[in-house]
Amino acid sequence: MSDAPVVDVDPAEFWDDPYPTLARMRAETPICHVPQFGATLLTRRDDIHTCEKNVAVFSSDQPGGLMNVLMGRNMMRADGDEHRRERFVYYPAISPRRVRAHWAAEFERLTGEVLDELEPAGAGDLVAGFATAVSGEAMKVMTGLVQVDHRDIDRWSQAMIDGVANYVGEPDVEARCVAAVAEIDAAIAERLDQLTTSGELDEDPSLLAAMVNAGMPLENVGANIRLTISGGQNEPRDAIAGAVWALLTHPEQLAMVQDGRATWLQAFEEYCRWISPIGMSPRRIATEHTFGGVTFEPEERVFLMFSAANRDEAHFDEPDRFDVTRDTTPSLTFGAGPHVCAGAAVSRNLVGQVALPRLFERVGDRLRLDTGDAAEPVRFGGWAFRGPLGLPVRWDDGPDPADGPQPK
Ligand code: HEM
Repeated sequence: MSDAPVVDVDPAEFWDDPYPTLARMRAETPICHVPQFGATLLTRRDDIHTCEKNVAVFSSDQPGGLMNVLMGRNMMRADGDEHRRERFVYYPAISPRRVRAHWAAEFERLTGEVLDELEPAGAGDLVAGFATAVSGEAMKVMTGLVQVDHRDIDRWSQAMIDGVANYVGEPDVEARCVAAVAEIDAAIAERLDQLTTSGELDEDPSLLAAMVNAGMPLENVGANIRLTISGGQNEPRDAIAGAVWALLTHPEQLAMVQDGRATWLQAFEEYCRWISPIGMSPRRIATEHTFGGVTFEPEERVFLMFSAANRDEAHFDEPDRFDVTRDTTPSLTFGAGPHVCAGAAVSRNLVGQVALPRLFERVGDRLRLDTGDAAEPVRFGGWAFRGPLGLPVRWDDGPDPADGPQPK
């Protein structure tokens, strides 16, 4: 174990709201060992930015790590040439150029369809009814698993990220993750059969087809499709719903976006800085190393706390304030270094240029939080992955239930 100062954390309190503890860590013990997680945490932006690039020490190759054990070895858990080979095949299918040329129009189409289905309801949970559906439908077309239901994609994604963050080792959490992996493999086999039988495999724009057509071994293809679902479904979902909540609870910020003083993309970037959908990424120490006055031991587990970096006072004035005009360039929302998010361009377009503007164009003038007695208060949860657990809203013309009984 490193010789970093030890800081105890209450896991339940940290799950409810990690930010006060992270602020204390940044100020007093920026590199600290947390026994409850069996890991040493880095909480300052520049430390993380430097160490994430030092893959010779801070390795993504974690043979015994939960992701490898439960989901199979994917490109995010490889270093060096092995990582580059797989990313070289994977990334072009969702690159910024590919997003402009192909996915942007797909996202417009599927978001319009989700809104057509949702709008007549007049009220509902925006996490389930809009954010999950938009993110899930986008995930279906990008992975190529167009035959499944978006609710399955969401269920699989949640089961896998619960599984890889299951540091306390709950057996039912692990069992759900293992079951999800098996269902995804069955869906991949079914889809490959359809594409091969129809002769469409060569032309199919999906990640599945791109990796298979490049000759990647099926085991690696499966692992990278599972990675895509686990890392590309919940994050856009939480960013869509979370950004809507942030704008509805900060009407002055919403007004700046609606009158053009800021863009929806800025609102997306600022939301993800403020409440990071991915708050942490693990690394394994490959060789003894001293950094920031701390000596790290080989095989030690390290957590790069992106959520803490994104509120680092050294880079962000009043970091706890949601400000859509803020310069978010220093943020580590999508990580940094060789493993920087391959889906960043997809997410910026899907959430910041399609889902948010289309939702507000369609119901924005009526959209409001449902504060009626029957509505659950909005709760956020998680530290490795964080987002709203539900978002009850209304967009009907009727009076707000909170206004009490209406005169007959
Ligand atoms: C708001 C949405 C998203 C956020 C905040 C996010 C965040 C991240 C972060 C922080 C990492 C780096 C992890 C590390 O350094 O270990 C990452 C990696 C990755 N993300 Fe995302 N992500 C998002 C959406 C997506 C989407 C939609 C996809 C796929 C379509 C995706 C695919 C990936 C892949 C494949 C990697 C691994 C890249 C590599 O190892 O080379 N992400 N993501």
